[in-house]
Amino acid sequence: MTSWPIDEVRRHFPALARTVAGQPVVYLDGPGGSQMPEPVIDALANYWRQGSANTHGAFITSQLTDRLIADARAAAADFLHAPPGATISFGANMTTLSFALADAMTGVLKPGDEIVLTDLDHDGNVAPWLRVAQRLGLIVRWAPMLPEGGTLDLDGLLALIGPHTKVVAVVGASNATGSITPLAPIRARTREVGARLVVDAVHWAPHLPVDAAAIQPDFLLCSAYKFFGPHGVGLLYAAPGAFDGLAPAHVRPQADTPPECIETGTKNHEGLAALVAAIDFIASWAPGAPTDRPTALTAAMERIGAYEAELFDVLWEGLGRVPGLTRYGRAPNGAPRTPTVSFAVEHVPTPTLGRRLGDQGIFVSAGTFYAHNWDLRLEAQGGTGAVRLGLAPYNTLAEVHRVVRAIEEACHAG
Ligand SMILES: Cc1ncc(COP(=O)(O)O)c(C=O)c1O
Repeated sequence: MTSWPIDEVRRHFPALARTVAGQPVVYLDGPGGSQMPEPVIDALANYWRQGSANTHGAFITSQLTDRLIADARAAAADFLHAPPGATISFGANMTTLSFALADAMTGVLKPGDEIVLTDLDHDGNVAPWLRVAQRLGLIVRWAPMLPEGGTLDLDGLLALIGPHTKVVAVVGASNATGSITPLAPIRARTREVGARLVVDAVHWAPHLPVDAAAIQPDFLLCSAYKFFGPHGVGLLYAAPGAFDGLAPAHVRPQADTPPECIETGTKNHEGLAALVAAIDFIASWAPGAPTDRPTALTAAMERIGAYEAELFDVLWEGLGRVPGLTRYGRAPNGAPRTPTVSFAVEHVPTPTLGRRLGDQGIFVSAGTFYAHNWDLRLEAQGGTGAVRLGLAPYNTLAEVHRVVRAIEEACHAG
C-alpha cells in the first residue's frame, strides 16, 4: 500500500463515527458527494461567527467578504491549475452554471449549427445544451459508448466533429462508470474546426489533478461538495477570452466581464470560505513541503489517486468473483480511471441490493446517477439501473473487503 496516512486522514472526518446496526458506516457514495473534514466545517461556521455581510460595503465584515471571494477565486484557480487570464465564476452548482453557460451562448449559435453531446454524460452536461438546441434548431450529434457500456467511443466521438460543429460538451470522468475521457485528441480536433470545448470535471476533480492549463478547455465545470467542500458552490472555469461574444444573463448593475458576468445574485459566502478550506485541506496532504499551493495540490491529488487506485484494484477483483455480477466500465489495468464502479446482479433487483447494503451501514447509490442516456442503454438491454460504489480518500482496505463480503451475501439471499 502507498504511504497514505489513512488513520490520520480519517480522524478529520466526524461523520465516520456514525454507526448503523452497531457497525461503523462505510461511505461509498463519494460520487454523490464526499464527507466534510473538520477544517471545512469550521470554516463554514467561522464565516458566520466573524459576522456575515454582503459585498462592497465600507465596513469590516463586508471587506472581509470581498477578500474572501477573491481568496476563493485564487484557491479555485490553483486547484484547477488555471493559466493566467483564465477566470473562475461561482454558481449554485454545476448544473445551474451549465444552464447559464448554454443560455449565454445562444447569440453565437444559429439553426443548422452542430453540437456534440455524449451517451455517457451526466444530464447536467446534456440537458442545458439540448434545450438550446431545441430552441435554436441546432443539430445534436450523439457520441456513442463502446459496446461494453461504460466508456466513450473516442474514435466515434472524433468522427462527429466537423466544420459545422460549434460546441463539444464532454464528461472528463464518468460518475456512472469511472472511465476517463482522453481530452487531448478532442481538444486538438475542436481547435481544427473552431468549436468550443466544454468539460464536465465534476467527477474527475475529487480523484485526479485537473490541469486546465494543459487541457485547454474553453469552459470546465465542477462542484465543491464532491471534494470535501460544501453544497451550493459550483465552479465554472473559463479560458482567457472564452466569454468574448457571449451574453450571460445578469442584472444591469453587474459587471459584464468575467468572472462576474455569469454570476447572478448574492453568492454563498460561507460556502466559499468552506471551499478555500477544502482546497487547503487537500493541499495539506502533499508529501514533502511544496513551496506553492498549485504544486502541493498536484502532489496531493496524485497521492490520493494512487491510494484510491490500490483500493480500487481490490474492489474490482472482489466484485469480479461474485457470480452473476456484471461490472460496467473499463478494468483498472493501467488505464487511468476513477475509483468508481457500477454493477448489476442478474437475480437481485438493483434497489433491493442498495437497500440491503444500506441496512447494514454500507451507503451506496442505486439507480441511474443522472447519467440519463447511459441508463436508457442499460434499460434497453433489460437492466434496472445499477449499484454504484465510489471510493474516497477516507475509505479503507478493510471497508473494501467488508463491502465485497456484504454484496456476496446480499446476492446469495436472492
Ligand atoms: C459527472 C457529473 N456531472 C455533473 C453533476 C451535477 O453536479 P451538480 O450537482 O453540482 O449540479 C454531477 C453530480 O453528481 C456529476 O457527477
